Amino acid sequence: MKSLPDFDMVLLGGTGDLAMRKLLPALYQQVKAGRVSPASRVFAAARKEMTQAEFMALAEAACRPFLGEAYDAETWSAFAERVNYLPMDVRDPGSYGALGAALGGHPQRIRVYYYATSPECFAPMSAHLGAAGLISAHSRVVVEKPLGHDLDSSRAINDAIGGHFAERQIFRIDHYLGKEPVQNLLALRFGNVLFEPLWRREWVQDVQITVAEQLGMEGRGDFYDRTGALRDMLQNHLLQLLCIVAMEPPTGSDPDAVRDEKLKVLRSLKPFTAAEVAAKTVRGQYQAGAVAGQPVAAYAEEPGVSEQSRTETFVAVKVEIDTWRWAGVPFFLRTGKRMPDKLAEIVINFRPVPHPIFGESAHGGRANRLIIRMQPDESMRLYLVAKQPGEAMALQPVNLNLDFAESFRDRRLEAYERLLIDAIRGKLTLFVRRDEQEAAWSWVKPILDQWEAGDDRPMDYGAGGWGPAASSALLSRDGLAWNEEY
Ligand code: BG6
Repeated sequence: MKSLPDFDMVLLGGTGDLAMRKLLPALYQQVKAGRVSPASRVFAAARKEMTQAEFMALAEAACRPFLGEAYDAETWSAFAERVNYLPMDVRDPGSYGALGAALGGHPQRIRVYYYATSPECFAPMSAHLGAAGLISAHSRVVVEKPLGHDLDSSRAINDAIGGHFAERQIFRIDHYLGKEPVQNLLALRFGNVLFEPLWRREWVQDVQITVAEQLGMEGRGDFYDRTGALRDMLQNHLLQLLCIVAMEPPTGSDPDAVRDEKLKVLRSLKPFTAAEVAAKTVRGQYQAGAVAGQPVAAYAEEPGVSEQSRTETFVAVKVEIDTWRWAGVPFFLRTGKRMPDKLAEIVINFRPVPHPIFGESAHGGRANRLIIRMQPDESMRLYLVAKQPGEAMALQPVNLNLDFAESFRDRRLEAYERLLIDAIRGKLTLFVRRDEQEAAWSWVKPILDQWEAGDDRPMDYGAGGWGPAASSALLSRDGLAWNEEY
């Protein structure tokens, strides 16, 4: 792989969880791979007064568990030489002079600002960077979700950032787009001829997207209680996955060609009426239970969560897409905390054969199925119907399994690593454009409005289960069921 061009990266929120768990380890990996020249610099900016040595000791302790076997002391010191700690209050315009002084001249140098703070700081940081003259044509900004909590607030943040950075300089990160199997889905769809003719309503019966987590709040109760699963996961990650499955072939892989097609999908999502919200969405909140054999507390007992909380920790929706390709094909999306497994997958269920020549009983309604697994393993499995060995013509599904870890021995890039590289290189294809993001907020608006208007609470589900029973009913009403081949 080619070396990265010289860059300066400023992590605003440099001592936070994101910096420690994802961003610094990603940059370390790039140093280890020999792709970061000694001239490139990382500035970690945060309020706490600390010396450089204190920060590096903190970062080393925090990053090591996430680096695992990739950690070695020699690379760490090479990495540390490129990292500078900068104590500054990002909300204080007076502290940007010191940032400017630390960055120095280098007018041609790529400069990436990473907003890893809470979103309330995004507008003031943009204004202060602008006022201090620290934004040039070579600057970029990477912004983390959540970008707002609804359409209006997301517009306000986009306006504030857009007042100082052009859209081509704004990298809205959705780390699911950086996951290797998601990009492989693009390769599968548009690098092969086999699937494209079948990738439509005539041959696809339904699509299921599941992102399940075993984790609960992990100290984020306060944030999560104001957010919920719909805003935290579905509005962004799951709708982006849906776009990759459902979009038309783009004319090329340049950013706007891909993002135009995703936008069309988002704008074709059938909007819910108030009555449909009740029929086509399920929200749940976990109660006490057990995950991986360990007892866990109810959501309402998590630190930072209100005892009367009506926040959903699980959501399932039935989505329809109003296009020629997808009319009438249900897309079922679900995500939740405290589920039995960490599982992220996309399931394409193809239709059964039009006429079962071996008889209904031999066939048993079996059909082709494609499963793209992002977590826990990275794989693609295609289920074909085959004959069981023996005298009788009995059929059973068998799978062709492409396990990425086995097939490709190279180290696979973590989602954040890949996206940081793209941001440094200025490649926007895997980042979300403003109009996409706002189309996604528009689509979820009636759901948010309806949930907030009523007095209903989310349904209970036991931690360690697959969500409320109503989630299965969402599919069984159409004679379907969630994939259960885990
Ligand atoms: C984040 C959410 O965007 O994605 C978290 O805010 C969630 O709540 C996380 O845990 C899941 O990401 P991954 O890559 O671990 O599936």
